Amino acid sequence: MSDVVTYNREGSIGVITVNYPPVNALSHGVRSGLVAALEQGQKDADAKVLLLVCEGRTFIAGADIREFGKPMQEPGLAAMIEQFENSNKPIVAAIHGTALGGGLETALGCHYRVAVSSAKVGLPEVKLGLLPGAGGTQRLPRLTGARKALEMITTGEFVNARDALDLGIVDAVEDGTDIRGVGLAYAQKIADENKPVRRVRDLTDRIEADKGSDVFGEFRANLEKKARGLFSPFKCVDAVEAAFNLPFEEGMKRERELFTECMESPQRAGLIHAFFAEREVSKVKGLPKDTPVREIKKVGVIGAGTMGGGIAMNFANAGIPVTIAEVKQDALDKGLAVIRRNYENTAKKGRITQAQVEERMSLISGTLTYDDFSDVDLVIEAVFESMDLKKKIFGQLDQTCKPGAILASNTSTLSIDEIAASTERPQDVIGLHFFSPANVMKLLEIVRGEKTSDEVKATAMDLAKRINKVGVMVGNCYGFVGNRMLHKRGAEAMALVNEGASPQQVDKVLTDLGFPMGQFAMSDLAGIDIGYSIRQERRKAGEDVPATWMDKLAEQGRLGQKTRAGVYKYEEGNRKPIPDPEVDRIIAEFRQEQGITPREVTDQEILERCMYVMVNEGAKILEEGIADRSLDIDITWIYGYGFPAYRGGPMFWADQIGLDVILGTVEQFYDDLGGEQWKPAGLLQELVSEGRKFGDL
Ligand code: 3HC
Ligand code: NAI
Repeated sequence: MSDVVTYNREGSIGVITVNYPPVNALSHGVRSGLVAALEQGQKDADAKVLLLVCEGRTFIAGADIREFGKPMQEPGLAAMIEQFENSNKPIVAAIHGTALGGGLETALGCHYRVAVSSAKVGLPEVKLGLLPGAGGTQRLPRLTGARKALEMITTGEFVNARDALDLGIVDAVEDGTDIRGVGLAYAQKIADENKPVRRVRDLTDRIEADKGSDVFGEFRANLEKKARGLFSPFKCVDAVEAAFNLPFEEGMKRERELFTECMESPQRAGLIHAFFAEREVSKVKGLPKDTPVREIKKVGVIGAGTMGGGIAMNFANAGIPVTIAEVKQDALDKGLAVIRRNYENTAKKGRITQAQVEERMSLISGTLTYDDFSDVDLVIEAVFESMDLKKKIFGQLDQTCKPGAILASNTSTLSIDEIAASTERPQDVIGLHFFSPANVMKLLEIVRGEKTSDEVKATAMDLAKRINKVGVMVGNCYGFVGNRMLHKRGAEAMALVNEGASPQQVDKVLTDLGFPMGQFAMSDLAGIDIGYSIRQERRKAGEDVPATWMDKLAEQGRLGQKTRAGVYKYEEGNRKPIPDPEVDRIIAEFRQEQGITPREVTDQEILERCMYVMVNEGAKILEEGIADRSLDIDITWIYGYGFPAYRGGPMFWADQIGLDVILGTVEQFYDDLGGEQWKPAGLLQELVSEGRKFGDL
């Protein structure tokens, strides 16, 4: 008998139990164990009904993703499920936790399904660049009809047990947590009532009802807008449509062909890299898993501006009380009003109730004095980006906050060590860098200072999870990981326009790559004044920062979306960037002043200069130990800057292009253009000479 799947009998019920932690994924061992246990159940003359149930925290959560890309070992999943469906004894699947992907497909191959009320079901394969490849696209629509099946399969969203009951995906929902007991009771009922074997494949009502419906065209048209650049969602529609146009067996064949196309697509590789990378980032090098964490029951935020308000919302959403400090009453009132308006808007969209709006607002209070921070467990400072101001504030916090309270800064570029040095407790100081809008963006870049204690680092990582963020631990340097790379890309984008490209050409190359917006549309969103003041500060400090046409925009008050004019212009109440001839004029004037004759810049050059400069910087970041692994950089870019997940992040993308190709081009740019940013990273040279990739590090 397999050690991950067992068979035993309880009365007249033959029980097949899967026990393969953590999520009972359908590895080769589980598949072959299930086939063996099924055969045993078939042969067991005293078993009238069979029950499939799982140990641990969940029902089967899908195929074993770690086996993808390797040769498939028999039995295949679809064949295994067919054997279950063909059983001559009724089989009941008892679902707890999450029945996902191949897990739900297995349950759909059983003849009856019972779930506990906390359970969820779903076919999330699309999120991995796939489609359900073991009958999910053929069986689910036979239960739910076309629309709901398309919705579930093209979005990958989960459905809770009660909704699954209404949709006909499960036959019964029971309260309680004892899944084995629930399953046994339901199987006994099936046995007592002499219920027959009932195969989903044979159901035809829903298929007949939706045959020839417009719904497939409607979904394809919607996906053109919502799933731009993605491959598998469209294949999902094709596969579901096959359930309506072809007999079951042929539909299964069609599903298999489409599944194979998805499996071979580079997007699948990128998305699965992103899936595992997201889980890997929570394991921080050199930080033992059992490091104690401090309790965070009460939080303070300083500054109720763009970032402070959003940061505060994260804590209120997680049920943690938060106090925001401002300098003036009107700034505080304004900040609190923005928070309320954000919540009200979410409620209008039906995502939270009005009661939840009030509940969350009641967790947020305002103050004009840091005295109210004497009992908080964590303070996050989000005032203007000024070292002097931040140092002054941290000095005051050190006096006011209780011993053991964590003092964090949301600075986007400044040295955490220098800020920490203004306190007597540098071990308790850390960077918590949120991304705008802070209540939405999933990334939390956690910046460790030289003296930050392990306990404080572990607490920050744990906190990220509590507030539903993906925490990535990085080292301290100008701009940390994300902005350090972004600023290199920004400088290159500006230079490309100096030389002859238009801002919209640069942005289009980036959006064609899959970014939600280009470099210049993003500058307009953040505010042109931000980059301008950073450049001015550096010029004041004596650095050689070349003049640019963007300085002219700032000096003329074209600050971006907030003034409805920046690199682009904007219509009232609309965020869509519109190219502006006035900006073309400003750029032409700038080129003339600088004696630049514009030349034609190709899209390929834009791609290489904007992206390879980031990869080269990423390699330097790894070399210096600012990021521990290339996957930390990938996740930073996917969750902080909208890098297309299906390309796996900038470093994974670079590995796919070929590091030798990238290095060759970087060397060429270094010769032609010069500049520190094009000096090839030692690590990049080393990897190329050894024939290795970032992913091999
Ligand atoms: N295969 C292999 N490992 C898996 C896995 C899977 N399907 N799902 C989760 N894991 C691993 C994770 O990598 C993680 O490993 P680690 O502890 O070593 O980092 C561990 O299980 C726990 O996962 P989470 O940290 O994500 O735990 P949560 O409790 O937060 O979430 C979950 C559990 C909801 C099941 C979530 O892991 C999840 O969404 N998993 C993926 C489900 C999925 O996409 N299934 C479809 C697979 S494709 C398929 O079935 C193809 C078929 O149609 C042919
Ligand atoms: P902002 O200008 O919108 O807000 C700053 C707020 O701090 C203002 O409301 C101001 O009144 C208040 N303030 C100033 N001094 C104060 C003091 N001594 N005590 C209490 N409140 C005080 O600035 P924004 O954009 O929110 O940035 C804040 C910090 O977050 C900066 O360090 C910035 O670099 C960083 N950041 C900004 C991002 C962005 O996209 N805007 C993204 C990530 C980080």
